[in-house]
Amino acid sequence: MTQELSRSTWLEVDLSAVQHNFEQARRAVGPGVGVFPVIKANGYGLGAVPIAHRLAAAGADGFCVARLEEAATLRHAGIQHPLVLLSGLSQGAEEGVVALNLRPFVFDPGLLPSLSRAAGRSTVALFLKVNTGMSRLGMATTAVAAAVAQARTLPGLHLLGLVSHMACADQPDHPENDRQRHCLQTVLTQNGLTGSQVSLANSAALLSHPDNHFSWVRPGIMLYGASPFFPARSGQQIGLRPVVRWSARILQVDALPCGAAVGYGQAFVTQRPSRIAILPVGYADGYNRLLGNRGRVLLAGHSRPVVGRVSMDMIAIDVTEAESVAVGDRVTLLGSDGEASIDVEEMAAWRGTIPYEVLCNLGERVPRFYV
Ligand SMILES: Cc1ncc(COP(=O)(O)O)c(C=O)c1O
Repeated sequence: MTQELSRSTWLEVDLSAVQHNFEQARRAVGPGVGVFPVIKANGYGLGAVPIAHRLAAAGADGFCVARLEEAATLRHAGIQHPLVLLSGLSQGAEEGVVALNLRPFVFDPGLLPSLSRAAGRSTVALFLKVNTGMSRLGMATTAVAAAVAQARTLPGLHLLGLVSHMACADQPDHPENDRQRHCLQTVLTQNGLTGSQVSLANSAALLSHPDNHFSWVRPGIMLYGASPFFPARSGQQIGLRPVVRWSARILQVDALPCGAAVGYGQAFVTQRPSRIAILPVGYADGYNRLLGNRGRVLLAGHSRPVVGRVSMDMIAIDVTEAESVAVGDRVTLLGSDGEASIDVEEMAAWRGTIPYEVLCNLGERVPRFYV
């Protein structure tokens, strides 16, 4: 690491933890069920390419992405596994799907003819996506029969099977989960697709009920060490290993008198003579502005509060109670430091969001190191 990086902010991504979490998914579904890690949005912010290489070596059956560009990045990095396009086939994407050899979720049967034309003399493998209750992409159950017939007759198309997505899987006891699963089962039976490649489960669904597994599963958030359940439990409580540690080095330490204001809007005023340290991390790095006067960091294994507003490139922390503190000391914003830790669920709760958003918002300018 260069001197400059060592004085700034960086993320460490533990690929062995990602692999462990993948193996937890594999164990949960058992043999015979495909595991296709979801590495869209640059692997939930942590780096799709290194994660894909690691999980390919660990036995992933394929990968799921959301966009053509994400698939292209993986193909250019040498990933030859099946790639599923979760956000589906949109108008104008047909050529790209063929060129990158992707398996799109087709939610609009009206695009099957243009996909067939784009295939030319090659064959595109595809899934039909059916709406079983989420109403976010997916054809109506009543449209499936005609779509199956079309996908089977148009040249260049190979129908792999049917997929759907659960709306309430993060709450395993929610009655909608059983209802959606039964709806999918009915559509499969009615259309003679029970033996096809069927997928319903994300992380929460695959961990909560074996009936959700069908032929292949699509774990995302659990790979990155966070619990998929709501209200959030810690990923560690369900056997997952944390994947990310976010660190920064102190830029400045200032001794301030009682009554000194800190940061924009003077939103924090010292109530005693204080030592305030400045960290080179702000909302441009993904440290959300809502964490002003609310977030906490770890310094030498002790929790210290963020004081004042979060600015674009900096935050202030109150280190008055720290035994010793100096410019260049390492501070942990996310992850563990000795016995203490700030997990992604905790940071999400501070700002009223979910772990997914915390990870996806980690700023592009924060360098990632893979350990
Ligand atoms: C269609 C689909 N399947 C699977 C996943 C993975 O979900 P999770 O990260 O909750 O495991 C997602 C993520 O949003 C998705 O959109």
